[in-house]
Amino acid sequence: MTLIRLQNIEKSFRDGDNQMRAVLQHIDLSVEQGEIVSIRGESGSGKTTLLSILGTILRADGGVYLLDGDDLSHVADTSRVRAQKIGFLFQDHRLMPQYTAWENVLLPLLAKADSTTADQEEYALGLMRLLGVEYLRNQYPATLSGGEASRVALCRALVHKPQLLLADEPTGQLDDKHSEQVAELLHTINRELGTTIIIVTHSETLARTADRQLILHNGRLNEV
Ligand SMILES: Nc1ncnc2c1ncn2[C@@H]1O[C@H](COP(=O)(O)OP(=O)(O)OP(=O)(O)O)[C@@H](O)[C@H]1O
Ligand SMILES: [Mg+2]
Repeated sequence: MTLIRLQNIEKSFRDGDNQMRAVLQHIDLSVEQGEIVSIRGESGSGKTTLLSILGTILRADGGVYLLDGDDLSHVADTSRVRAQKIGFLFQDHRLMPQYTAWENVLLPLLAKADSTTADQEEYALGLMRLLGVEYLRNQYPATLSGGEASRVALCRALVHKPQLLLADEPTGQLDDKHSEQVAELLHTINRELGTTIIIVTHSETLARTADRQLILHNGRLNEV
């Protein structure tokens, strides 16, 4: 089944001289449920912009975006779709410093309800166990290593069981060993939970682990 379909997506930004500059032009993309797709491209080529459109954080200027059969192109409030179907993993993990690892992992659930259920907490604990960070649950982000923080952030991205995981440079600040670990974890998540994953990366090694590799260049997406 097709999870994502982008047709003729366009996005321009106004630059410092007040000129409109096209960042994405005519982007077509289909992603099947359960696929892992990597996207590479030069700095400034529009990768984060494209992920933001896929994550419904940004709206395209033109074109059609279908997610799980729903046409989101003209949906005014996408916060529900986002909260239910999409998980985000950022380069700089963005854990909240005032909360423990455990509280950070539960945060996406608390955006939708006042408290978490026993089932949800059990699932969250299972994720932390799967990613090997269960024993860190009472620690604060400042006391975690970069790799540990990434894994906690990955638990947080997955705790609401999203169909789609969007990862922007997930290994950007990690050394080779931890980058490999994150790549393996993404594959574990894909295999165990069936999550569709889109990885934006500068790392050719990470990109190559995907089922399909794409490159963004001159506002267009090409298969490698
Ligand atoms: N809100 C904005 N307003 C104006 N220009 C923007 C805005 N967001 C992004 N841009 C411009 O769009 C282009 C693409 O930015 P984007 O962040 O998508 O690139 P990227 O491929 O993710 O780069 P990197 O690899 O460095 O993260 C850049 O030239 C950037 O300056
Ligand atoms: Mg970027």
